[in-house]
Amino acid sequence: MSEIELKNLTIDFGGFKAVDDVSLTVKNGEFVVYLGPSGCGKTTTLRCIAGLVKATSGEVLFDGKRVNDLTASERNIAMVFQFVSLYPHLKIRENIVFPLKARGVPRAEIARKLDWVTEVFKLGDDLDRYPAALPPGARQKVALARAVIRDPAVLLLDEPLSAIDEQFREEMRWELGHLQRQLGVTTIYVTHDQREAMSLADRIVLMNNSRIVQVSEPDRIFFDPVDVFAGQFIGSPSMNLIDLVPVDGGLRLGDSGVTLTAAQHDLPAWALGSRRPLKLGVRPLNVHLVDDAAQGVPLEIDDVFSVGRERFFSFRIGEAVHQGVDKRASRTGAATRVRFDPSGLLFFDAATGRRVTGEIAA
Ligand SMILES: Nc1ncnc2c1ncn2[C@@H]1O[C@H](COP(=O)(O)OP(=O)(O)O)[C@@H](O)[C@H]1O
Ligand SMILES: [Mg+2]
Repeated sequence: MSEIELKNLTIDFGGFKAVDDVSLTVKNGEFVVYLGPSGCGKTTTLRCIAGLVKATSGEVLFDGKRVNDLTASERNIAMVFQFVSLYPHLKIRENIVFPLKARGVPRAEIARKLDWVTEVFKLGDDLDRYPAALPPGARQKVALARAVIRDPAVLLLDEPLSAIDEQFREEMRWELGHLQRQLGVTTIYVTHDQREAMSLADRIVLMNNSRIVQVSEPDRIFFDPVDVFAGQFIGSPSMNLIDLVPVDGGLRLGDSGVTLTAAQHDLPAWALGSRRPLKLGVRPLNVHLVDDAAQGVPLEIDDVFSVGRERFFSFRIGEAVHQGVDKRASRTGAATRVRFDPSGLLFFDAATGRRVTGEIAA
């Protein structure tokens, strides 16, 4: 096990910074998930920690020791990628012990370790099969077993489940989280799938455009996003984002004729008094229908659809389509009143996209 520290890490590919001044500490035994859209620099960061890509500037430390100049094999890391390659002509047991044999580990120790990973990964039935006989999920499990059998200080996983069928992926995800806690190995897991990140991570490192946007526990990042990007990247269906234009007596919703006023909405005074345009972030689960004419704002239901047991409705403000959830939503084209839960309102500076929780200095 190891603590990993990145200090002002920058990785430049011919003038393009794939990783731009990233600092982060991953604690001993922690499960950290790197999350972000495709191309934001996740894999490059991971490969740098592994020793496969050189840092242009900044430092990578394992347990406080600088490893920038160590090769991948000197770092005691194990890495598993999206597409694993097992040796097709070797049985599963031979595939798993391959790294130990290659290092000349004594036979008795190899046997002991094989027993251990077989038990942990429940691979007993598969040991004497060949890779081609196993479904992709099981092969990925073998790759993980092969990765951890030599007690790596750090486990690096780059979208290891994304090539696996949806149904099996859920199960693997659960198992992987369980295994990591059992092994206690410091783990960095890369994904672009926010649900995967939410269910696995001790902490999520949210990345965008080569930089870290936010580092938080999954719940915190959901309820307390630092900016519009974080608010919209996490959560499904995505957070609604509605322009709020300061007008006399309240905040107008986009280019609609509808104004949120103090009397009807439990809005913070600083937001109502804001002279700068804001954006309102509100998740569909915090948008409902109300009958009471004194509550909510008059809008028109655009469409209605069900996802599982939830009934969603969409409504338009100007050109933008937003969503809410309410069991009673049924007719489209119907005039209705929509209420935004005061507890679910997030405000952002329209100019910068940063979250605002109080008056913005002019
Ligand atoms: N060896 C390389 N040379 C030049 N550009 C690269 C190299 N590796 C990655 N990139 C670029 O760096 C950016 C980040 O890539 P990557 O780390 O793979 O993103 P992610 O894993 O988040 O999808 C991308 O724009 C990619 O094209
Ligand atoms: Mg990648």
